[in-house]
Parts: sequence; structure tokens; C-alpha cells
Amino acid sequence: MTRYPALIDGAEVDGPATFVDLDPSTGQVLAEVTRGGAADIDAAVAAARQAHERSWRRTRPADRSRVLRRISDLIRRDRDQLAELESRDTGKPLRQAKADADIAARYFEFYAGAVEVLYGDTIPLDSDLFVYTLREPHGVTAHIIPWNYPLQIGARTVAPALAAGNCCVLKPAEEAPLTAIRLGRIALEAGLPAGALNVVPGFGEEAGAALAAHPGIDHLSFTGSVEVGRLVSKAAAEHVIPVTLELGGKSPNVIFADADLDAALPVVVNSIIQNAGQTCSAGSRLLVEAPVHQRIVAELVGRFEKVTLGPGTADPDMGPLISATQLERVSSYVDLGKSEARVLTGGAPPANGGLREGFFFMPTIFDDVPPTAVIAREEIFGPVVAVSMFGDLGEAVRLANGTDFGLVAAVWTRNVNTAHVMASEIQAGQGFVNTYGASGGPELPFGGVKRSGHGREKGLQGLLEFTRLKTVAMKLDPGASW
Ligand code: NAI
Ligand code: MG
Repeated sequence: MTRYPALIDGAEVDGPATFVDLDPSTGQVLAEVTRGGAADIDAAVAAARQAHERSWRRTRPADRSRVLRRISDLIRRDRDQLAELESRDTGKPLRQAKADADIAARYFEFYAGAVEVLYGDTIPLDSDLFVYTLREPHGVTAHIIPWNYPLQIGARTVAPALAAGNCCVLKPAEEAPLTAIRLGRIALEAGLPAGALNVVPGFGEEAGAALAAHPGIDHLSFTGSVEVGRLVSKAAAEHVIPVTLELGGKSPNVIFADADLDAALPVVVNSIIQNAGQTCSAGSRLLVEAPVHQRIVAELVGRFEKVTLGPGTADPDMGPLISATQLERVSSYVDLGKSEARVLTGGAPPANGGLREGFFFMPTIFDDVPPTAVIAREEIFGPVVAVSMFGDLGEAVRLANGTDFGLVAAVWTRNVNTAHVMASEIQAGQGFVNTYGASGGPELPFGGVKRSGHGREKGLQGLLEFTRLKTVAMKLDPGASW
């Protein structure tokens, strides 16, 4: 069995405690991984501090940029291996894992470019004052990431932090830590100084909690559940450090009767099937205008029933859920949903005996879901879509905004007024018109409102969040020389 040690100060730290990482397609053990604890977090934070002070914060942006580009090149070099590892570790279809590797490479490339044009301002306050601002790194940044897109989210959070001159401690999720560890090794190979990116795998309650509470970190970036988001924010508040939270959602696709349904339907299906619905921005609610309700639901059922299930590496349409725990969680939401609404298809694990060892669940449609239903309000994080009907624009806005979340929302219409009203009224960090997700582009700022979190990742804004602004005012002595 392959062992995956932590990476601290440029060295592999193996054990002594370990945990087993499962392949969710088979339930079999995939790897044995170092179970980092508080002492490892101490060492990683100290290493990051040293790397930051010794070199990285003083490295020219052009030189940081070069290292980041090299990381991006090495991710591309290792793309197929990384994708296979990601597919085994998370269960996601191979082509999705390849896309994830490509996006991970793009994050490093994008921030390699962005940091070269990251400037401060001058402020013309008075003729005898020279006032300017500096964009400085926070120092040591902590990154706690989930298991759904370890490579992509790892790159999304670490690339801008490193670009801005921070040094990082990355804590991947216990369910899928392997590609994040590989990313740490790749960064070293690319010439990132030892200690600039430390990767400490381990359990949330151990390594994760120790990292969030560590007095040596200057910024915390967290992606995961609302519940743990609250915990880590409280821990960070003890040391009064900034926190970025990305906590998932209950994102709606809103389809008006005038929409191009042929264009909308495949995108709507993919928005909930992708990664078996375990995507923070999954399109888990479908709000449809009354006249097209029957047609949409009928076509949706047809499409859901054609979705192929299988082990990620066999590249089906949909792989398994991440774990037995997640399967249980999704199953219990669906069981509850059966008392709240009508199942049109799915609603259970597949009957196919060949898939019984893995954590599979059938793509599921609930129709006539009342807005008050639990399955209309809570994040299920499985391949389950809740369909509800609306009568007019006002009701569409109310339903779309009717949950505690606000990450992403899409509106499908040919009416420019409807599109603009929805775009302005919707409570979400990202809005889409006649599309969904825009291929996860690193260029687009991303994050939530309400319980979906705060702060923005991706885009130029994602780089700014990893800097702190210093204002310098310098009094000039004009002298008498003129
Ligand atoms: P989680 O929030 O427990 O895990 C996310 C990360 O937080 C992991 O690295 C985990 O080790 C860490 N963590 C857990 N407890 C911690 C603690 N006390 N202190 C510090 N770090 C801690 O999410 P979980 O339990 O794996 O999934 C539960 C639900 O959360 C999902 O069903 C889904 O609804 C939501 N979720 C949302 C994600 C998103 O992309 N926004 C990603 C993962 C989960
Ligand atoms: Mg957990």
C-alpha cells in the first residue's frame, strides 16, 4: 500500500500515526496517510514563518511568478497521473479529474501573471505629502480544504497566497488528501523554497482544529461545511485574523418559459450530476415557470435515467459519493424528502450489484417541492435536484432567494428585462444568464453571501484577499531651492 507522508519544511514527515484513505468506488483501501497532529501543525507553521521571513516575502514578484509558472508546467506534465490519483481518491470521472488538473494548472498560471501587475496607489493628498499604498502579504496563511475538489481547490487557495508572498500550511480533507500532497511535492520540484508550502494531512478535529486555532497564522481560508466554518471562524477570532469562508450552497437554476430549453437542459443536468452533486456550486434547485414545468420535468427524467454510473477511473457520467458517511447523509435526506415531495426517478442506491461495494447513489429528481421543505433548503451534497414551480418574475426572485445560502444562481430566459432583474435581485456571489458555472474559470471572482460564506476567491480579487494594505504618508520638505 502506498504511504503518503506530510510535507513540512521541504521534508517528508511519515507517521508515526497514520490513517487509511479509501477508494470510494470500491470501498477498498487506497493509501495510508500520515495523521498530522498539533505538533506537526506547530512545525509547519514555524517552517512557513521562516520561509516567509528568510526569503519568500522579499522575493521579487517576477521571481515568484516564475516559480508559479513552473508549478503550472509541472502540473501539466503530470496531468494524467494527477487525474488518475484524483479520480481514485474522490471517485470522480476521469475526464472531470483531468479538467480539474487543467484548472489547477491555470490557477498557478493566472496568479503568476496577476502578481506581476499587482501595484499600490499614490494618493494626491497635498503638495508636501507623498502618500502611497503597499500591497503586503499577510505572512503565514492557513488553508483548510474539502474532499470534493482537492486539487482544484488546493490550487485555487494556495496559488494566490503564494503569489502575494505568503507562505502556506495546507490541510487537506481526510477523505481525499492525496493530490494535495502531490501538489506540495510538485511545488518543491518547481523551486518553491522549503517551508513555503507545507501540507499536513489529518483529521479535521485534530490537524484542522490545531491549524485554525494556531496563534502563528495570519490568515485563514476555509472551504467546507457551514458548521465547521463557524468553528474555525471562532478559533480565528481569538487571534483577530481575517478569514475567508466558502461554505457551499443551495443554488438555483431558474428557467423561464421563454428560455431555449434545448440549451438549458443539458447544462442543468450537468450542474447537479457533476461530481455526483458534491459541488459547492451544484445546481441543486430547479425553479421552472408553470407553462414549461411538465415538459422540463419529462425531459429531465429521461436524461437522468441515461446517466451512467461507475468507478471514476472507468470514466462514467457519474461516480460514487465520497464515503459511507456521505452516502448515509444523502440517503437520509432523500428518505425525508419522500415525505415532503414526489420522487420522479432515483431515490436510492443503484440496484446494480457490481456497484454495491462503492458509495453510489442514483441521480434523483424530486418534483413539486414546497419551498419550506428541508430538501429545498438544506445542502444535500449528492445527485439530488429539487424542482419547484413559479408563476411570475416576483415569485421566481422570492423562491431563488428563499434559502439561507447564496453562492451561485442561474437564470434561463430570452427576455433581457427578466435577465437583468434577476441578475440584480438575486442574492448570490455569482450569477449566470443562459449558462452555468462558466467552466470554473480562475478569472471569475467567486464566493458567497449569507450562509455561503464571505470573502472572494479566484480572479484578481482572490489575490487582493491574500494581501494587506499599508498606507504610507511621507512629509516632504520642499526646501527653498526654487
Ligand atoms: P467538513 O466541513 O467537516 O470538512 C471540510 C474540511 O474541514 C476538511 O479538511 C476537514 O478535515 C476540516 N475540518 C473538519 N472539522 C474541523 C474542525 N473542527 N476544525 C478544523 N477543520 C475541520 O465537511 P464534511 O463533514 O466532510 O462534509 C459535510 C457537509 O459539508 C457536506 O455534506 C456538504 O454539505 C458540506 N461541504 C461543503 C463543501 C464546499 O465545497 N463548500 C465541501 C465539503 C463539504
Ligand atoms: Mg467532517
